[in-house]
Amino acid sequence: MPVLDLLPDSAAVEDGALAIGGVRASELADEFGTPLVAYCEATLRAQARAYRAAAPEALVAYGSKAFPNLALLRLFAEEGLGADVSTLGELELARRAGVPGERLVVHGNNKSDEELRTAAEAGADLVVLDALDEVERAAAAGVRRVLVRVTSGIEADTHEAIRTGHHGSKFGLPPEEAVEALRRTAAAGLDPAGLHVHIGSQLLETQAARMAVEWLGAFAAACRTELGGWEPAVVDLGGGLGVRHVEDEEPPSVEEFVSELLQRLERAWDLHGLPQPLVVLEPGRSLVGRAGVALYRVGAVKRASEATTYVAVDGGMSDNPRPQLYGARYTAVLADRADEPGEHAYTVTGKNCEEEVLVRRVLLPEPRRGDVLAIPAAGAYTLAMSSNYNLLPRPAAVLVGDGEARLIRRRETLDEVLSLESP
Ligand code: LLP
Repeated sequence: MPVLDLLPDSAAVEDGALAIGGVRASELADEFGTPLVAYCEATLRAQARAYRAAAPEALVAYGSKAFPNLALLRLFAEEGLGADVSTLGELELARRAGVPGERLVVHGNNKSDEELRTAAEAGADLVVLDALDEVERAAAAGVRRVLVRVTSGIEADTHEAIRTGHHGSKFGLPPEEAVEALRRTAAAGLDPAGLHVHIGSQLLETQAARMAVEWLGAFAAACRTELGGWEPAVVDLGGGLGVRHVEDEEPPSVEEFVSELLQRLERAWDLHGLPQPLVVLEPGRSLVGRAGVALYRVGAVKRASEATTYVAVDGGMSDNPRPQLYGARYTAVLADRADEPGEHAYTVTGKNCEEEVLVRRVLLPEPRRGDVLAIPAAGAYTLAMSSNYNLLPRPAAVLVGDGEARLIRRRETLDEVLSLESP
């Protein structure tokens, strides 16, 4: 069944019923309610191990913005991963998860003094400078070791909102300013450990990332000349590897993506006579995307026109804004009739008061009120970007494996949502 390729490693269909981690998806929906995101523990560990195997010498820091969650941060820490954090909230969560300072990478294009101070207190090994005035502000906050994020000018082939390496990006410093930032670190008493690039997210091929690595080699060599022999001890290549949400997307595997980048880096560094650096990788989506399956309950089924029949589920853009924001495509399957051939094309919509579309024209057997609908590859940037639009409480998440499910984030209650109002 082709949809199985998009689902977690432990997904199986028995007697027509989709199971994840040995638990029927519809049972998860009954027990924990919907919308729900079910994460497969085996897939999370397998993805983490794939990164560690492809880059045994590197620091792999989970890009925690993809799904900031205590259980996942702990699980990845067990697998030897660190965390990339970009706000006080993400930093605090990583600290509570026990991620050691030497595996913490702190980002942010507009860091507050409090964020810089907390990074220093947490003993974060690497703080990534993203603005010229951060040099002195980081030093004053007690930060010691820094990277400088530089914009390579390379345009990744991805949605414009998640492309970050081009000239004019709000992230990183243009090359001349990055050199200036490095120059100023010494006077400020900082250790300029190296450089950072991140060209974009949901990359479905390696070309732009490979070019960025080559560009970075030349830039590092130029820095050496400009800065009297300085060479980067650390090179952080960011995240970016995409996941497959629908059958016609074909991202490279973790192994392919990482080994191509590392080979390119080794060659570029040799070419410029630079000593091989410690590499940092910051994958987010590719660690958690395919591990997570979103489960919804079908409500209204409505024939809106000759061409369109809607299946409305009990969530929507409030728990997955990606189709609305980036034109992201997903597919869907009815959890208890997963092996039945689809008869008609249905458009999956939600409860939010907009013409939102979660999945456009997916072939399904006739959906009925009460069915559980599963959306594969929904583990990254869904719950993380969820909102209370239309005062919908945010969904819960569970971790499944070996026939058991454990709540890792409880559902928000309506009282919690309403409690922010002044009486
Ligand atoms: N490192 C840095 C500095 C980043 O800015 C990001 C993502 C990552 C690592 C992780 O990238 P990943 O491996 O997940 O591609 N909300 C958007 C994605 C925004 C990505 C932001 N930065 C989406 O839903 O597609």
